Amino acid sequence: MPERLVTDVLTKPDAALEVTLRPSLFADFVGQAKVKERLEISVEAARQRGEALDHILLSGPPGLGKTTLANILAKAMGANLKCTSGPTVEKAGDLAGLLTNLEAGDVLFIDEIHRLQKTIEEYLYPAMEDFKLDILIDQGPNARSVRLNLPRFTLVGATTRSGLLTAPLLTRFPVRERVDYYPAEQLQQIVLRSARLLSLEIDEHGAFEIARRSRGTPRIANNLLRRVRDYAQVRADGRITHKIADLALAMLEIDQSGLDEMDKRILEAIVVKFGGGPVGVSSLAVAVGEEPDTIEEVYEPYLIMEGYINRTPQGRVATELSFKTLNVKPSGDQLRLL
Ligand SMILES: Nc1ncnc2c1ncn2[C@@H]1O[C@H](COP(=O)(O)OP(=O)(O)OP(=O)(O)O)[C@@H](O)[C@H]1O
Ligand SMILES: [Mg+2]
Repeated sequence: MPERLVTDVLTKPDAALEVTLRPSLFADFVGQAKVKERLEISVEAARQRGEALDHILLSGPPGLGKTTLANILAKAMGANLKCTSGPTVEKAGDLAGLLTNLEAGDVLFIDEIHRLQKTIEEYLYPAMEDFKLDILIDQGPNARSVRLNLPRFTLVGATTRSGLLTAPLLTRFPVRERVDYYPAEQLQQIVLRSARLLSLEIDEHGAFEIARRSRGTPRIANNLLRRVRDYAQVRADGRITHKIADLALAMLEIDQSGLDEMDKRILEAIVVKFGGGPVGVSSLAVAVGEEPDTIEEVYEPYLIMEGYINRTPQGRVATELSFKTLNVKPSGDQLRLL
């Protein structure tokens, strides 16, 4: 078991909080302008034609709004939303149960769709393509396959790892959208909106400070907001200002660049332990005590986007920014690589 970090709690979803803060309309969904526009057009077009929405695959790192978008899509279509996730569908019968209970136009949301078993995935193909389900009844000599007609439904799949999806599944999604990390200005809007919903007193500077240090992630911004609120309440008058936000975030060991403990461990491992790299993800995982998958899905995309590390065919390498951030002077050999 990887050791728990202070910041673990900040990246984990808090179910009750997320329901309260989750926007339910496109109009309240901040950012991702292009994705939003394309999805809104799909919704509008399907509504005009009186048809179900095409199947949609949403991909991107955790906490950026995939589940939120699935909810918004169903609501905009005036459809029911049924939710499940890849690992929970254990038998083909589970999937058949879900599919046969759908009404025309309903949205079936499958979270972590890359973790669906391959045998179950195969049942999905005809369901997605022809709205048919082949189920096997009886066993032995009496076994026969029965073909059921399904209502025209919409499958919304979400994944943090679209690279792990098989080609046949991927190609059955006519609409594929990727959500990306949010710039600080948009996260600031999200923080201000959440503060309003939670009736917190916060000024723009306080909101920006939280936003800037949230790893581009709305979930983290909302979780940090709550922790900063606690601090403001106990150590000050409850108002979240720039100074209070800064003190609270320092206490949570979220540094000025917004990197959390695990981010820093990763950088330290590459820079110090592996001399700047290149290092493979599995060695890196062992060095920092985290699962390789989590490094690839959660940490690395942000560190790459912000320019701390590069991915090369030989492995991960630290950039100059990493050396600077850790206050480590690159050696002559390392300088040549930077
Ligand atoms: N664009 C947005 N505008 C406002 N709030 C947002 C936005 N995106 C996400 N949030 C907030 O962040 C929380 C987490 O988002 P969500 O659950 O949709 O992430 P996710 O991409 O499904 O993550 P995971 O991969 O972990 O399932 C939501 O409850 C919502 O409050
Ligand atoms: Mg989700």
